[in-house]
Amino acid sequence: MIEITPLLENKNGSPIYLQLYNYIKQEIERGRYQANEKLPSIRKLALYLDISQNTVESSYQQLLAEGYIESVPKRGFYIQQIDEELSVVKRHKPFPLAESDSSFEKVDYHIDFHQASIDLALFPISEWKKCSNEVLHNRSIFDYGHPQGEMSLREQLAYYLHFSRGVNCTPEQIVVGAGTQQLLGMLCLIFKQCESSIAIENPGYKGAKDVFLNHGLDVEPIRVEADGISVNELKKSKNKIVYITPSHQYPTGVITSITKRRQLLKWAIETEGYILEDDYDSEFRYVGRPIPSLQGLDLNERVIYLGTFSKSFSPALRVSYMVLPKSMLNQYKKMYASYDQTVSKIHQEALALFIERGYLTRHIRRIRKLNRQKREVLLKAISKYMGMNVNVVGEKSGVYILLEIKLSETEETLIQLAKKAKIRVYPTSPYWTDYRSIDFPKIQLGFGGLNEVEIKEGIYLLSKIWFK
Ligand SMILES: Cc1ncc(COP(=O)(O)O)c(C=O)c1O
Repeated sequence: MIEITPLLENKNGSPIYLQLYNYIKQEIERGRYQANEKLPSIRKLALYLDISQNTVESSYQQLLAEGYIESVPKRGFYIQQIDEELSVVKRHKPFPLAESDSSFEKVDYHIDFHQASIDLALFPISEWKKCSNEVLHNRSIFDYGHPQGEMSLREQLAYYLHFSRGVNCTPEQIVVGAGTQQLLGMLCLIFKQCESSIAIENPGYKGAKDVFLNHGLDVEPIRVEADGISVNELKKSKNKIVYITPSHQYPTGVITSITKRRQLLKWAIETEGYILEDDYDSEFRYVGRPIPSLQGLDLNERVIYLGTFSKSFSPALRVSYMVLPKSMLNQYKKMYASYDQTVSKIHQEALALFIERGYLTRHIRRIRKLNRQKREVLLKAISKYMGMNVNVVGEKSGVYILLEIKLSETEETLIQLAKKAKIRVYPTSPYWTDYRSIDFPKIQLGFGGLNEVEIKEGIYLLSKIWFK
């Protein structure tokens, strides 16, 4: 049944029945009501709109007389099919896609190398269901939660981050939020009080850069070297805040060396600046010893650590978090005391239980093992089918690699060729501020969401298309 909520006003001189008649007529002409949809009964609509039944009846009679609706005995009033000419908007059309919406374009891809996809075959659905069901028994779960995030989740996180990433913090320092970008946005408003710009990696994560720009901060791109962001360039830039992805640089995959981590901390102390450390996929490291987070090495409260469950569990959950230095907590609370938490309390409590019972650690162990195997398959297939035509970049950790294609084709041409074969691969040019200086196109290939057969087939088909 149609819902009708017009604005009916006594003051403008027009009788209420006429206002209601005009409203329904316009809705029909604009195509908002479809032919054969049922109108509310006179009694129900009068009650809902707090007007007399006579008024509603008068409106309906007028619509009946003009053929906009019909009356079916014992059943009620229905919308009539109206002439095309009468219809102001012929049909309810979805909004046309703007150029920048092309990422939402629906192509039926056969194989999609998206960098953020997860393997659904291993998703721990029964454990997640168990935890979700259990937390529903507590009725207070349906009330507002703690603005910073549920204490149960923050306690689990503090413990988990310490053992997995060497992060040193108390639950009071953790702020939960619905996505890394949302948390970065909160930080922007804090930093904007005293800074007007922020240093970022070049190439770097566009999702973060856009947040800084949208909040009115200037961004200064700093070159990424073989062992992480250039500290010399950072010093010259005179910025006091830097956003980096040191454990697995996005998108090059460079791992910041321990020497450079110490240099960065020294820089932060000397400038009294802050390092925003985005540790988005540190769970997946395949070569070498784990390097603890910068936050864990920091003794001077100069690092803000950001993490997410998007890679290790599910991006659909929208649970991310940041760890603030104790010295920033007052400022944070002053600004955000009246802000409500953006992540569902139900999901937070379920996740806390999920971590407490060891399900998360077990799940991460499983997908790490699986991703390691997939990575092997991917690298072998690349070597077999593409050989000397490509260089592989950033394969030591994470769930994607960059493929440097030694051809004179543009990145766009390579992507379009792949698209014709229904294979989706991704550009990296948006991550560079000076893309033209890059020798060969670099294509991003995520493997986390594909199985081994798809990976092999995808690489084989790409080799045929690109190097025929
Ligand atoms: C560098 C970087 N940070 C963070 C994220 C995850 O963000 P979120 O926590 O909003 O899912 C991604 C996702 O791909 C990323 O590439």
